[in-house]
Amino acid sequence: MIRQLTLALALGLAAVTGGCAADDGIAPAYDWTDGRHDARIAQLLSQMSTERKVAQLIMPDISTITPEDVRTYRFGTILNGGNSGPGGDDQAPAPEWLALADAFWDASVEPLPGGEPAIPVMWATDAVHGHSNIPGATIFPHNIGLGATRDPDLMRRIGEATAAEIAVTGIDWTFAPTLAVATDDRWGRTYESFAEDADLVSDLGEATILGLQGEPGADDFLGQRRVLATAKHFFGDGGTGGLDRGDTKGELDELKRFHAAPYRPAINVGVQTVMASFSSINGEKMHGSEAMLTGYLRGDLGFGGLVVGDWNGHGELDVCSNDDCPESLLAGLDIFMVPEDWRGLYDNLLAQVQDGTIPTQRLDEAVSRILRVKLEYGLFEKPRPSERELAGDWEVLGSPGHREIAREAVRKSLVLLKNEGVLPIASSANVLVTGPGADNIAMQSGGWSITWQGGGELSNEDFVGATSIFAGIAQALEAGGGSASYSRDGLFPVRPDVAIVVFGEQPYAEFVGDREDLVLHDENGLALLRQFEEQDIPTVAVFLSGRPLWTNREMALADAFVAAWLPGSEGAGVADVLVGDNEGMPRHDFIGRLSFGWPASCLPVGPELFTFGQGWSYAVEPPLAQVATDCALLENDRAGQLRIFGRGLNQQVSISSGGAGFPNLAGSAPGLTVLAFDYQAQEDARQLIWSADASLMIELPDGYSADPEGSLTLTYSLDTAPSGPVLLVGNDVFDITSTFVLGAGKGWRTARIPLACFAKQGAGLLALQARAGFELNVSQIAISPDNFTSSCEGPF
Ligand code: BGC
Ligand code: BGC
Repeated sequence: MIRQLTLALALGLAAVTGGCAADDGIAPAYDWTDGRHDARIAQLLSQMSTERKVAQLIMPDISTITPEDVRTYRFGTILNGGNSGPGGDDQAPAPEWLALADAFWDASVEPLPGGEPAIPVMWATDAVHGHSNIPGATIFPHNIGLGATRDPDLMRRIGEATAAEIAVTGIDWTFAPTLAVATDDRWGRTYESFAEDADLVSDLGEATILGLQGEPGADDFLGQRRVLATAKHFFGDGGTGGLDRGDTKGELDELKRFHAAPYRPAINVGVQTVMASFSSINGEKMHGSEAMLTGYLRGDLGFGGLVVGDWNGHGELDVCSNDDCPESLLAGLDIFMVPEDWRGLYDNLLAQVQDGTIPTQRLDEAVSRILRVKLEYGLFEKPRPSERELAGDWEVLGSPGHREIAREAVRKSLVLLKNEGVLPIASSANVLVTGPGADNIAMQSGGWSITWQGGGELSNEDFVGATSIFAGIAQALEAGGGSASYSRDGLFPVRPDVAIVVFGEQPYAEFVGDREDLVLHDENGLALLRQFEEQDIPTVAVFLSGRPLWTNREMALADAFVAAWLPGSEGAGVADVLVGDNEGMPRHDFIGRLSFGWPASCLPVGPELFTFGQGWSYAVEPPLAQVATDCALLENDRAGQLRIFGRGLNQQVSISSGGAGFPNLAGSAPGLTVLAFDYQAQEDARQLIWSADASLMIELPDGYSADPEGSLTLTYSLDTAPSGPVLLVGNDVFDITSTFVLGAGKGWRTARIPLACFAKQGAGLLALQARAGFELNVSQIAISPDNFTSSCEGPF
């Protein structure tokens, strides 16, 4: 929901637990000012060459460097992006991550000539809900669900468990927690936000940091079972009006009080790193804002750790490019996250230090901050990654104990919004479990799970050791003498006592999840709920989503409605609460309360059906509410374009070559290579490379049949004309080679091809096939209702 800032401030509930923010008057827990590492830092700096100092500022992605590059350049830090993994495999098994950590480490500590100190490298990852890039790790609910638990003690245990799993793989640092206070649910990162309430975000963020890093002053603070945490994205990322990387506008003091509130307690408990936001404050990009990165963060907030940029965030400044940006360093950034263009950036920074564009003093300051974090983390004393305490203890990764914490988090995150007597389900009942999310661990995990975008072609097998929601329900019923059967389409051989429909949003991350309104673009659950209503079968709706959405139609049809958010790998936590004992008495009650208000209307701005903090239980029944089931936007829905691929658009369609996901893919598959690149915005386009006879498959979502009156539109560019036929295949085969012959070498163009030419019967699966090797850049594929030409005579 869009909320007025002032309203949100006025309604902000008091902190649920005693946080210890500096302005509470309680002495800071972490001392940033005692200069305990100063002497060592000064000594190291005096021995370092300018080249090695500059290299400390550079953070490349592991997909673009080798240990040899680390040996040559001595980068200070490295990261794995959401789609990167050892050997180019984002699903590489855990031992390969540890082996690679050793290889990078060894390269970084190899002695340098002339007695120059070798500074060990640190590796950062996005363990944003567990160590979620690693197959077999425990995947905790995303923050929005954790916000519903309102349980700082649980956050601390999750942080601790996550740190331990990261330590198993020899990685040092996680880019978490996100401290965004999201104020517009259309934002694709709403689920990374604990709540729309700054106090709740502050408490849960602080507790997560304590779990990840340990408690300042304690023996194991940043010890071998802990990792460095990151408070991100500083600041105002949640206030951009629903647009990722947008602009947060308002009176500056008010913006600070609200959106930067969670940074005070985070800094107070010693969070070692802060990530600058892609977004802007009143038109000024954070990556170039000296007032914010230096004046406010260092000065007012007293932060003494390091500031890392976001993924090429510096390159988004008007005056900068990915490989040239002294401005960000001068504004106060210490580390450039420069996944690919590190070589150029290194050369340019070095030249800028040498010609005085960057004063030595600023270079030394940034390097000091990086060294300070490394010293505080004990990096110089820690052994190589594989020799650390937890390294290689594979049983810790996804251990039963960690999974139990995740399952508890799932139970506590469920919010009951409707229950007309159907819950809890007796464990002696016969239950049908259906819907797109019922047996779909990728969908229940959301984005940032194994891959950057999650979902796509990930299957249950890719989530080693995880439990789907259906599997959890089946276990609970079998234990009580009942039974559960799974059906994709809702059909059943034996009439069930109850049907559970699990449906909701398909996974997405960042701008790919931005929406224009609050309509749920998935009619699957609705159709199933209708079907059961007609058959007079009681239903429970389990809604999986990264945000509240307008679900009045589903809510009206279902007998019970549960917001389950994105629960992660432990789907059994859902059954813990939904399935009671064999007499139908609850085993666990609902304790989750909304961390975001729930919309009453599908329009982007509208009234709320349920407010922040609401949520019912077996003890306190939900009121019987009548909800309006009409939505002004839906009439146009079918008439609208279906965007298959394009920046900021719904990832409703899976595109593949039979093995690789798209658009969430930057990798290869048999016959087709898909590489992400920047066209007008970051990663908004794909380079597709066909080998002979390979096909790009375009699968339309269930229930969407392309109107044969419409067109397929393709925004593309290509350098070289195809050397063999290129075909569009629907129910018919259609040759579009001439279009690409005409378009070759002419820059970006849009082709609009009537669907009637190759999909007269409204096909649900389309293919673009090349008979010989072929290369094409694509920035958008869409199905439009408009018929731009009725002729099938190309070129288009
Ligand atoms: C990376 C992510 C990164 C994103 C930036 C992806 O290719 O895998 O880690 O956050 O790009 O938009
Ligand atoms: C995201 C960050 C993330 C980084 C590295 C960026 O695109 O905004 O949250 O930590 O990529 O993957």
